[in-house]
Amino acid sequence: MKCFRYFSRIFSWALAVSVCALAVSMEAQNHPALGERPQLGDSVVLQRANSLLRQMTSDEKIGQMSQIFVFGSGLSVEERVRAGQLGSVLFMTEPAQINRLQHAAVDGSRLHIPLLFGLDVIHGFRTVFPVPIGMAASWDPSLVEKAQSIAAEEARSAGVHWTFAPMLDIARDPRWGRIIEGAGEDPYLGSAMAAAQVRGFQGPYLGAPGHIIACAKHFAGYGAAEGGRDYDGSDISDDQLWNVYLPPFKSAIDAGVGTVMSAYMDLNGVPATGNKWLLRDVLRDQLHFKGFVVSDAMAVNSLTTHGFAKDQQDAALRALRAGVNMEMGLGKTAYGTTLAESLKAGKISIKQINDAVRPILEAKIRLGLFEHPYVDEAVAKTTLNDPNHRIEAMHSAEQSAVLLRNQDGLLPLQASRYKSIAVLGPLANSQADTNGSWVFANDFNETATVLDALQRQAGTDTHFEFAQGVQIARKFPSPFDSILKGKKQAPWSESQAAEEFAKAVQTAQHSDLVLMIMGEAQVMSGESASRSSLELPGKQQQLLEAVVATGKPVVLVLLNGRPLDISWAAEHVPSILEAWYPGTRGGDAIVNLLYGKATPGGKLPFTWPRNVGQVPIFYAHNTTHAPEAQDKRYWNEASTPLYPFGFGLSYAAFSFSNLHLSKPEVKSDESLDVSVDVENTSDVPGDEVVQLYLHQQYGSSSRPVRELKGFKRVSLSAHEKQTAHFTLSKSDRTYWTSATRSWVTDASKFDVWVGGDSTAKLHETFSVRP
Ligand code: NOJ
Repeated sequence: MKCFRYFSRIFSWALAVSVCALAVSMEAQNHPALGERPQLGDSVVLQRANSLLRQMTSDEKIGQMSQIFVFGSGLSVEERVRAGQLGSVLFMTEPAQINRLQHAAVDGSRLHIPLLFGLDVIHGFRTVFPVPIGMAASWDPSLVEKAQSIAAEEARSAGVHWTFAPMLDIARDPRWGRIIEGAGEDPYLGSAMAAAQVRGFQGPYLGAPGHIIACAKHFAGYGAAEGGRDYDGSDISDDQLWNVYLPPFKSAIDAGVGTVMSAYMDLNGVPATGNKWLLRDVLRDQLHFKGFVVSDAMAVNSLTTHGFAKDQQDAALRALRAGVNMEMGLGKTAYGTTLAESLKAGKISIKQINDAVRPILEAKIRLGLFEHPYVDEAVAKTTLNDPNHRIEAMHSAEQSAVLLRNQDGLLPLQASRYKSIAVLGPLANSQADTNGSWVFANDFNETATVLDALQRQAGTDTHFEFAQGVQIARKFPSPFDSILKGKKQAPWSESQAAEEFAKAVQTAQHSDLVLMIMGEAQVMSGESASRSSLELPGKQQQLLEAVVATGKPVVLVLLNGRPLDISWAAEHVPSILEAWYPGTRGGDAIVNLLYGKATPGGKLPFTWPRNVGQVPIFYAHNTTHAPEAQDKRYWNEASTPLYPFGFGLSYAAFSFSNLHLSKPEVKSDESLDVSVDVENTSDVPGDEVVQLYLHQQYGSSSRPVRELKGFKRVSLSAHEKQTAHFTLSKSDRTYWTSATRSWVTDASKFDVWVGGDSTAKLHETFSVRP
């Protein structure tokens, strides 16, 4: 008997062990290691989401629809997380703190649903890449994809699953501070950059290891803010909406973007976050978006501020009905506070709630959060310290820079020629201003300013002397002042300011060459950073003029996120290099460019106005009356821009020839091929961006004078010639016309130009017959 009991105990123990082992191995089968997570089929994801929904109370469902800002440790929200009141938080960046809060969700909440951690990973996480407008200036989608995949890898390693990027707002008014976050004025370039960023962030499929979910924002038309004033309303015709503002979103959706953010502003009078037509008819029905919509921060609550919703409850109802699945808020959200009551009162159905929550759960399932909710802090450390990421950031900064002027080949600098170099300007030695806006998880020890890089790299023979010269500051503070890290300088007294100015001019006087690093400080560009002029802020212009008056050769390096009024400099400063906010290794990249270790090959992603009075100015305007006087629209000065869209110089020189179209005439649904030879006519290697522009001569609507329809960045060694090929298909000729309020592909005659910017001269024509 004793023996039987003994054996039965052994047997049951063995059974238990083997059952456990089986369970563990099944678990392992169901939950493969993080690095091997395969793509889940749609039906599996749907089944799992529905099975969770069946177990959830309505309060738990409503909880998943709220996301709030958490600055710091997350301790203050642990209780709410355990109670299942939050589906997501944003702004946490520390792996240990993220793990801790995730434990509260997974171990502490009834159904163990993990949190989705979000952050604005706009141009890097720990490694800072150039700002998006700079990355767009590379005209190299593969570079952009690579950069965002590194940003994703770093963010994911730290526990961040979701970025609020890419920003896809077309911006044609540089007074708007957020022009820095997008790809500029053009829908074709914007669409290419949109898809590249989605691929970079999300990888080959949603849930791919080492990647995060992207969020296409701000849907839609946020970039057309009246007067360029951030948050103000946008009035956009349907023609402009379909042909200009929506294409980058379509491109992101076609690339599989997982989430979309609804915008803050009124679109044609209806707030975007409560705009059912926009978020359902356009986004879901016409653009076929399948993921979930998050509101911009506090945008649901502010539907009352807009004079749209009656009160908070009405705001939540109207956002939900419009199609906002998750509300981004601060503290108590409108959804969390009022939806339960609205459900009880029969103002919304549980089906509406289920439909809103399901895609949020699906995203968590696809990302593998149920299987791998935590991050390995040791792995995070290694990933974040990867030196290759910094090298890629430097390369990106080199590829993004645009050479605007280079009189008499002053650049590249010959190291032996200049023994003493003055390094002047408020941005020459500022790490925060080298990184730009939207940088929260960086390590300042890694950021190289231009001065740092010069002192480190340029050889011992040259003496560099730094003088800041001027300070620059906003008149009204930025909401980001308290969030962004970085050294802050105490304001100078009037006498100190005069001394510093004089010192900078003296430094120029006793140097062989002057490098002036100027532009806008970090908080002068970005969200809540619109301005009514485009001048160099502070006394930078005066300093520039005083230094040029010394007669020394001057190189102006600009750090900024918008075109500035540099009309004077464009005539008087021999070399001007637009370096944007170039990021962690920005200083090194600039020095490499100045000394010719790298060659500038970037091109402007916007039209550069002469001054703010020309704004808005963009190349793809329609042909209208008296086109021969297009450059004389103003009687006081030329109405042409300072630099055209697509413009950028190189240390090399290029010529285009042999433009060839495969057919003189095509049928409406046919494509044709375009080829052109591009030759490096110089003795040094360099990159050129071959740009193809199209114009429809007549049809249902007047069409833009030219529109970008193809581009390729090519690297050419000295005297090398290559042939670039493009295909012009039906979709390149299809547009939305207000004549019939529908899409149309007209039979017409078309002009094609190919060249190095939007003023390209090489020209051919073809016809399209019905
Ligand atoms: C408001 C901004 O408009 C949006 O772009 C950003 O993602 C959120 N704040 C979160 O920081």
